[in-house]
Amino acid sequence: MQHLHRKLTNNRPSFKLVNQILLRQFYSTDKCFTFDAGQPIPSTHPQLLKEGEITPGISCDEYVSRRKRILELLPEQSVAVVAAAPVKMMTDVVPYTFRQDSDYLYITGCQQPGGIAVLSHDFGLCMFMPEPTPQDITWQGQIAGVDAAIEFFKADQSYPINKLHKVLPNMIKNCSKLYHNVKTAVPTYTELEASKKAAYNGGLHDLSIYTHEARWVKSSAELNLMRQSASIGCQALLQTMLQSKISPYENILSAKVEYECRIRGAQRMAFNPVVGGGPNGSVIHYSRNDQNVKDGELVLMDIGCELHGYVSDLTRTWPPCGKFSDVHRELYDLVVETNKECIQLCKPGMSIQRIHNYSVEKLCRGLKGMGILKNDRLQSYHQVNPTSIGHYLGMDVHDCSKIGYERTLKPGVVITIEPGIYIPSNFDCAQRYQGIGIRIEDEVLITESGYEVLTGSLPKEINHIETLLNNHSYGENLDISAFGF
Ligand code: GLY
Ligand code: MN
Repeated sequence: MQHLHRKLTNNRPSFKLVNQILLRQFYSTDKCFTFDAGQPIPSTHPQLLKEGEITPGISCDEYVSRRKRILELLPEQSVAVVAAAPVKMMTDVVPYTFRQDSDYLYITGCQQPGGIAVLSHDFGLCMFMPEPTPQDITWQGQIAGVDAAIEFFKADQSYPINKLHKVLPNMIKNCSKLYHNVKTAVPTYTELEASKKAAYNGGLHDLSIYTHEARWVKSSAELNLMRQSASIGCQALLQTMLQSKISPYENILSAKVEYECRIRGAQRMAFNPVVGGGPNGSVIHYSRNDQNVKDGELVLMDIGCELHGYVSDLTRTWPPCGKFSDVHRELYDLVVETNKECIQLCKPGMSIQRIHNYSVEKLCRGLKGMGILKNDRLQSYHQVNPTSIGHYLGMDVHDCSKIGYERTLKPGVVITIEPGIYIPSNFDCAQRYQGIGIRIEDEVLITESGYEVLTGSLPKEINHIETLLNNHSYGENLDISAFGF
C-alpha cells in the first residue's frame, strides 16, 4: 500500500486537470457524475438529510444564523480564524479516525480536515479549502473544494488554501482584534507576518468564549438530535444490561454497547466506554475493559454515542447476576436518591454549582452515616468522589467548557446529573464497602418550566433493574453456548 502510494505521487495529473474533473462532476447533469461534497448531502444520502440541510437535522438557514450570532457576539472590526481539526497519523499514511473540531463543524458544517474558516463583519464567512490531488481522491475519496464551500456550505467567499497567505493579510490588516480557535491553531496562518502583526497590535485571542456562548443554548433542531442521541444510548445500554447476564465480561459489554449504538445510526462512540466490574467501577474513567465481572459484583457502564455531531452521556451500575447485595443496596439507594433529588432541582435560574453543592452535602451526610467518612471535611469526601455533579452536554462531552458552572441555567441548555461513590479497595472503612464504585448518570434538558430527562427510558430503580435482568427471555431457540461461554 505504502509502496504504491509513493510510486503514484511521481505521476500526478496537473492541478488544472483535477479541477476540471471536479467542476465537470459538479455541473454535469449526467447521472454518473453526481456532486460529492466529501460528506453526506441530500442528493447522495436522502436517507440522512432533507433538502436544505447541510448536516443531518441542521438546515442551511441555521448555519447562516449561527455565523451571524457569533459575529454579533464578537467586538466590532474583529476577525476570527478557525481551522479544522488536524489529522493524527497512526503510522506513515495510516490515520487515526478523524473527528472534526466542534467549533469548526458548528460554524461551517464541513466534516473534512484541511480547511480554515474566517469570520468577519466585512465579508461574513470565507472558507479556505483544501485542494485535492488525484492521489488524495484515490486514497481518501472525494474532498470538498471551493465550489462546495460556496454552493453547498454557503460560504460568502472561498479560496484554495494555498492562496491563504495572499488573501488573509488583507482580511486582517485593519482588524481591531484577531480571534482564533486555539485548539486547532496551525502555522499556515499563525506564522504569517500579518497575523503576527495583528497579534502584536490587538492581541491574538481565544475565540471559544464566543463559540461556547453561542453553542450553550441548543436550538430545537439541535435538541432533536440530542434526544435521538440519548435514545440510542439508552437502547444500546439496555441491550447491554440484558447481555451482561450471559456475558459478564468487560470486553464483551464494551463491544456490545458500541455495536448497539452503531447499528442504530451513531457514527461513533462519544468516548471510550467505561466498563468497570467490581473494584474497576471505582476508577472514574476506567478504560481497560479487559476483566471478567465476578459473580455478585456490580458493573458500572458510562457510555455515550455521537449522532451527527451531538453526543450522549449516561451511566448505569448493576449486578449482572441479577441481584443487588445488601451492601450494594445501601450505597445504591444513596446515589439514586441523590440523582433524583438533583434532577428535581434542575430549572432555569439554578446552576450546576448549586446542584453540585446540594449533592456534596447529601452524599457526605449519607457516607458519614454509614461510617465510610469519619468527618464532614471536603478533603475526605473528595477521596471517594472528586467529580462535579455534572457538566454541559452538546457537541462535546464536556461541552462549552468556557462557561462556568456558576452560570444560571436557561431553557435549551443540556446538562448531566451524575452523582457517584468510588471507594478504593484500600480505603480506610469497613471491608464490606471497599472496592465498590456506583454512578448513575442522566442527561437533563432545562425547559421553561423545569426539566426533561433525555435518558429517562433507561431503568435505574433497583426493583426495575432486577425485574429486567431476571425476567428477560433470551429466546427459546437461543443456545447461549453459541456465545462461547
Ligand atoms: N462520561 C464521561 C464524563 O462525564 O466525564
Ligand atoms: Mn458525564
